[in-house]
Amino acid sequence: MTDASPPPIGIRSTGRIDDKALGPLTTLRLGGPAREMVAAETAEEAVAALRSAEGPTMVLAGGSNVVVGDGGFDGTVVLLRGGGIEELGDGRVRVGAGQVWDDFVAWTVERGWSGVECLSGVPGSAGATPIQNVGAYGQEVSQTIAAVTVWDREADRIRDWAPEECGFSYRSSIFKHNGRYMVMGVDFRLERSGLSRPIAYAELAGRLGVGVGDRVPSAEAREAVLELRRGKGMVLDEADHDTWSAGSFFTNPVIDRHAFRELTDRVGGEAPHWAVGERVKVSAAWLIGAAGFEKGYRRGNVGLSTKHALALTNRGGATTAELLGLAREVVGTVEDEFGIRLRPEPVLVGATLD
Ligand code: EPU
Repeated sequence: MTDASPPPIGIRSTGRIDDKALGPLTTLRLGGPAREMVAAETAEEAVAALRSAEGPTMVLAGGSNVVVGDGGFDGTVVLLRGGGIEELGDGRVRVGAGQVWDDFVAWTVERGWSGVECLSGVPGSAGATPIQNVGAYGQEVSQTIAAVTVWDREADRIRDWAPEECGFSYRSSIFKHNGRYMVMGVDFRLERSGLSRPIAYAELAGRLGVGVGDRVPSAEAREAVLELRRGKGMVLDEADHDTWSAGSFFTNPVIDRHAFRELTDRVGGEAPHWAVGERVKVSAAWLIGAAGFEKGYRRGNVGLSTKHALALTNRGGATTAELLGLAREVVGTVEDEFGIRLRPEPVLVGATLD
């Protein structure tokens, strides 16, 4: 493999790590320690560490989609840092699970390839992308994934899975909330055209000054997405507490048409929404605002991002308990107001919203 990026957080050595604090390894900067922590520079090393660990285990890479409880994790955390990118020919590219995702996107765009350019600026690792079928600005990884290399720990077998086997759906897959499988690498099938895939998200088309369905140079699509994401506090920036988040804290609820009509009657207008087959996906950020929360709403050391209502943020010195308190307040208020229950989007470790 080539082009392995330096780790985002300064841990380079392989093996047991003495500092077991998990908070600094997450983009929320929240959570207690692990019982044991082991660093792995390749997915193979991670598998070896998981095989020999006793008790509960978890793999942590980018730390951008996880909420760790204040009590930490009473088990072994395998910290996956290394990745690597390999061209397999014919537009197929293999990326190691620990690769920083946005470095991979930049690499594809620099070569004039398209298929993941609208996923620019998404934090975290490449291996995390199939787990929650990462999507943004009209692209989802399930549209370009050709195979996922998976270690099945029950069968102790490594095998390439076809996309149909992965159970991809909106922000989910068979790998989410499932300790049986570890993603070791992902193959993408990209297009060598220099032009983006047809732009599918109206806000992005507007920013680019083109119509939905048009194509632009991939590099332009990447820049426009990065600008949009920065404006929403969705590009990591150590100095900006609006980015001390796990991205969208809730998924956009998918409701039936009858419930959508009821919602429209109740608020006297249509919420931003997208058709999903016979059902309707409604903007969770909008529901939160309509329930009375302003962007930037504070509760102690946590608050909604000042730039996007869907990001719950650590303003500095927060605890996970505080964050969950805010999350419960949002869920309860939206449910009381609209009868719709928001579901958390990140993975909760040693923490629960119930
Ligand atoms: N909106 C509000 N209030 C806000 C923010 C947005 O009312 O504070 C409204 C906007 O006006 C817009 C609608 O909500 O009409 C949708 O907003 P946005 O385009 O920002 O998208 P989103 O549905 O909130 C989803 C993904 C993001 C992804 C964006 C762009 C989920 C849970 N979130 O957000 O992904 O980047 O679309 O494609 O699907 C993530 O999953 O962590 C994530 C950041």
